[in-house]
Amino acid sequence: MPDIPRPALHFTCSTWMNDPNGLLFHDGTWHLFFQTNPDGPDWGNLSWGHATSTDLVHWEEQPVALRVEPGELVFSGSAVADTANTAGFAGPGETALVAIYTSHHVPPSPRSGTQTQSLAYSLDGGTTWTRYPGNPVLDLGMQDFRDPKVFWWEADGAGHWVMATVDPPGRRVLLHTSPNLRDWTAASAFAPADPPGGIWECPDLFPLEADGETHWVLVVSVNPGGVAGGSGAAYVVGNFDGTTFTATGDFGWLDFGRDHYAPVSFSGVPEGRRLMVGWASNWDYAAAAPPTSWRSAMSFVREIGLVTDDGVPRVVQRPVVPLDDPVLAVAELTAPVVPSGVSDVVVSTADGAARVVVTVDGDRRELRLDRRQSGVVDFHPAFPSVDVAPLPPGDEVDLTVIADGSLVEVFAAGGRVTMVAQVFPLAPLTEVHVVEQRTS
Ligand code: FRU
Repeated sequence: MPDIPRPALHFTCSTWMNDPNGLLFHDGTWHLFFQTNPDGPDWGNLSWGHATSTDLVHWEEQPVALRVEPGELVFSGSAVADTANTAGFAGPGETALVAIYTSHHVPPSPRSGTQTQSLAYSLDGGTTWTRYPGNPVLDLGMQDFRDPKVFWWEADGAGHWVMATVDPPGRRVLLHTSPNLRDWTAASAFAPADPPGGIWECPDLFPLEADGETHWVLVVSVNPGGVAGGSGAAYVVGNFDGTTFTATGDFGWLDFGRDHYAPVSFSGVPEGRRLMVGWASNWDYAAAAPPTSWRSAMSFVREIGLVTDDGVPRVVQRPVVPLDDPVLAVAELTAPVVPSGVSDVVVSTADGAARVVVTVDGDRRELRLDRRQSGVVDFHPAFPSVDVAPLPPGDEVDLTVIADGSLVEVFAAGGRVTMVAQVFPLAPLTEVHVVEQRTS
């Protein structure tokens, strides 16, 4: 049997992969690290794989950056360029790239059964990495405590590093601060009264402007309890003063499909752009996914913005990929959202045997993605799904559907609504048809 067609412009690797890690732009190169099992198709031996790009579209896999060691799995985290050499890892004329990751301790580690935060640094632009001998740099003796996202915060000429981590079962984001990445002080915890989801993982916290005002966006991935079932990512907008995040609104969903988990943003991006990548899979069925020569993909890089709808700030997203690239099958249209207005975008293999149907339904004012006939669907009961997203007010909606071999991404309503779906056809999805039934 042929293997499932591998996406061309979505990053894939040939062994197990989950979360994006350490997203970083440095010296003209985009770095994408990721959770991987370098030795096999299944979750285990967690290490940081590595890929690089010069355009955010074409990715080249590099040697594994941080390999599992006896007693320590290398779980998710982030990376920064320590340009002021606050940690002291760099010699004269050098810049250290510093990875902040979770050490998941297993036997024979004396810390077995706990998770702590650790550092590694690279003095050659991200190719080779050295673990900091003073690890761990943050140990709260907790069994579950992970996924550090570190960024530099500055106001009035003074600044410090901020680390956001999660207490997964407590559904809390913990914030710590540091002058040097090595010594961390507890700053605050964000624990909303009505938290979404099961456990929380992979937090991110960053500023975005809307209407000339700066807001802070806190992203958390939840599993289970995502909007489409299984794992998914949520966000909430608020204020951040360098130590404490305060929500000013309610949680919303970053993506309404089933396959967008652990999205985090790049650090070191010029001109204040905020770019994120998610893992295009779902913990419900990732382990059972049919491909054999590759296991899963990352989402397209997305540029994130904020708009204000009726006074409420809301995240919008657009894909950073040239839609005219000949490897993609793309539909761009404006569809009516009025009673009896139904538009379908059908993406299929050349022989029509496998298909994904994206529907704008004006009666229900919703967008649906149906992958029940998308090829191999029977490997897990949660897979053959119809995912649904509400559409914002208005009597029409812009819609972009992008198919890349076996991955479909949908962006609608000015980027307010997005959906990622991996599918498993036996030939690539190359055909796109728009079937529109307008009301008069
Ligand atoms: C999220 C996650 C993280 C953890 C990593 C382990 O998908 O569970 O919380 O660091 O995967 O691979």
